[in-house]
Amino acid sequence: MLEQVAAGVSGGYLAVLQSLRRRATEGGLPIYLVGGPVRDALLGVPVKDLDFVLIGDAPELAEELASELGGAVTVHPRFGTATVEVQGDRVDMVTARKETYPHPGSLPVVSASGLEDDLARRDFSINAMALPLAGDSAPVVDPHGGLQDLGDGLVRILHPQSFADDPTRMLRAVRYQVRLGFEIADSTQSDLNATLAEGHVSAVTGDRWRQDLEKIFQEQRAAAMLSTAMALGILPAIHPALCDGSGLNRMADTEGLGPVDYLAALFMPLRSADGEATAQRLNLPTAWLRVVRDTIALKDLAPSLTGVNVAPSAVCRALNGLDTDAVAASVRLVSDPEVAGRLRRYLDEWRLVVPALSGNDLLAMGVPAGPKVGETLQELTAMKLDGLVDTEGQERALVERIISRGS
Ligand code: CTP
Repeated sequence: MLEQVAAGVSGGYLAVLQSLRRRATEGGLPIYLVGGPVRDALLGVPVKDLDFVLIGDAPELAEELASELGGAVTVHPRFGTATVEVQGDRVDMVTARKETYPHPGSLPVVSASGLEDDLARRDFSINAMALPLAGDSAPVVDPHGGLQDLGDGLVRILHPQSFADDPTRMLRAVRYQVRLGFEIADSTQSDLNATLAEGHVSAVTGDRWRQDLEKIFQEQRAAAMLSTAMALGILPAIHPALCDGSGLNRMADTEGLGPVDYLAALFMPLRSADGEATAQRLNLPTAWLRVVRDTIALKDLAPSLTGVNVAPSAVCRALNGLDTDAVAASVRLVSDPEVAGRLRRYLDEWRLVVPALSGNDLLAMGVPAGPKVGETLQELTAMKLDGLVDTEGQERALVERIISRGS
């Protein structure tokens, strides 16, 4: 299986894998491929990135690798983990560890340990398998029935306290369920419900929830994942306003969407005050807060953009200044196709329209310096958008009229 993993990676990933295999085979280094890449290799799907667990000091090994392969290291001392970046590829290496959670939802207290403890601290059986790097054909280390669950298509936690220890695993469960087309095992579903009922969700910081939402936003089937997390009561437990899936439903079958589209879809149905409170709960960064605010604002002003009497200049007046990512997401989110069409034309054409004449041209024609120049340019733009002027000559005639009008 290691050969299969090696054949599927290149660049920095391959360089790191080859060096570690050599160290394991020739030097007896106790190191394993672990978690996602083992799961994906067993499923026969492309391995996205490589995670390793070392029975020993992972940051020290990461430094050695970086100097051998010409890479950079970031160390996270609290968890004994390190990331090596080689040729732009980032590889995580962890010191095998035991974790205990002082109380539900807290970050774990960790201590160095062996492989068994390291696998036992993990979220799901399908993520709790390890592949030794020594030799070519060592069997997968699978103490929690991961192979069986992979075959049965089940997402299963390792012990009943797992979700209470780390409630973010509930979102992770949904992510794997939808991504892999698996089911959540019955006992795991019961434990998930119990964790929700016990209120442990509120013990987790907004930053941690947001990071797991960001992971979902990067998935191909993010809309289905978020809808499922909503239906299971996970999102409403994070904030009660996250309970309307109408925006997500509109994105359900659309391909090629990005994180901001899913963010907008999640927040679109909210009232403005709820949007603010939920954004605060998740400690959204400024750029995302803007998307949230403008998506909700756009939903509220959408009714004013429908009907035959809405000129392009009126659309621009309403939308200018709104975040263009929010407008782009709203093309899919608004229910009225006429409004959607106008948003699309705003993005593709109307917002780019400028007059042929410049501010200097206006001054040369006798428009007084000061705010009048900007106002006249705006008026020219509006007339051009609405098809009332076309050529530069027509613009000049209009400016003459404005000057003689004197206001
Ligand atoms: N993990 C965990 N509990 C969490 C987060 C992570 O037990 N709350 C463990 C899992 O064993 C997981 C590993 O840490 O396989 C790495 O986590 P992460 O990087 O988030 O997962 P990947 O395997 O890289 O990503 P994916 O599963 O999405 O491919």
